[in-house]
Amino acid sequence: MKILGISGSLRDGSYNTRLLRAASELLPPDVELELWDGLKTVPPYDEDDDVQPAPAGVAALREAIARADAVLFATPEYNWSVPGVLKNAIDWASRPLASNPLRNKPVAVVGASTGAFGAVWSQAELRKVLSATGARVLEHEVAVGRAPTRFDDQGRLVDDELREQLGDVVAALVGELAAAPAPLAAIA
Ligand code: FNR
Repeated sequence: MKILGISGSLRDGSYNTRLLRAASELLPPDVELELWDGLKTVPPYDEDDDVQPAPAGVAALREAIARADAVLFATPEYNWSVPGVLKNAIDWASRPLASNPLRNKPVAVVGASTGAFGAVWSQAELRKVLSATGARVLEHEVAVGRAPTRFDDQGRLVDDELREQLGDVVAALVGELAAAPAPLAAIA
């Protein structure tokens, strides 16, 4: 089973990317987390450009989601909402709506911010956006507030309570995978 990890931050030292790395250490042995690093290659959404073949960065995003059994998003909060680059990528991934790769895909959202509240507004908005795509959105939340105090020099999540919450999210995603109907190809 494969979980795709998508961080909504482009910067090298991102706490949200670190959060996904922390999640990858909490997986059962038969589950892997692939960290997607193509966010910066996704162009601004333009319906005129939303044709076949799709722009390369968009095609790569859609394929990465389609190949994964589930997606774990870690989002920063920019001005109380989802960073534009992440919303933009989801807009691309959501088309065509009826057959988009997020449809029926189990997804979960976690988040980190340098403020006290751990990107809770952004996480809630991202869950709403993902629901619009037809994804199966888990209600779980992990709010890593005051992020600089929660990671050590090696970028590891050092807060036990947050690690436990993150483990619960990962376990819930894996549980969704186990409960999901097998793809038709696997049945045939
Ligand atoms: C922020 N930040 C921020 N934090 C927060 O808790 N609520 C907010 O509304 C905002 N707004 C905001 C806007 C913009 C444009 C920036 C650049 C930053 C701070 C933010 O939490 C911080 O930069 C995090 O470190 C971003 O996440 P990464 O890049 O570490 O993953």
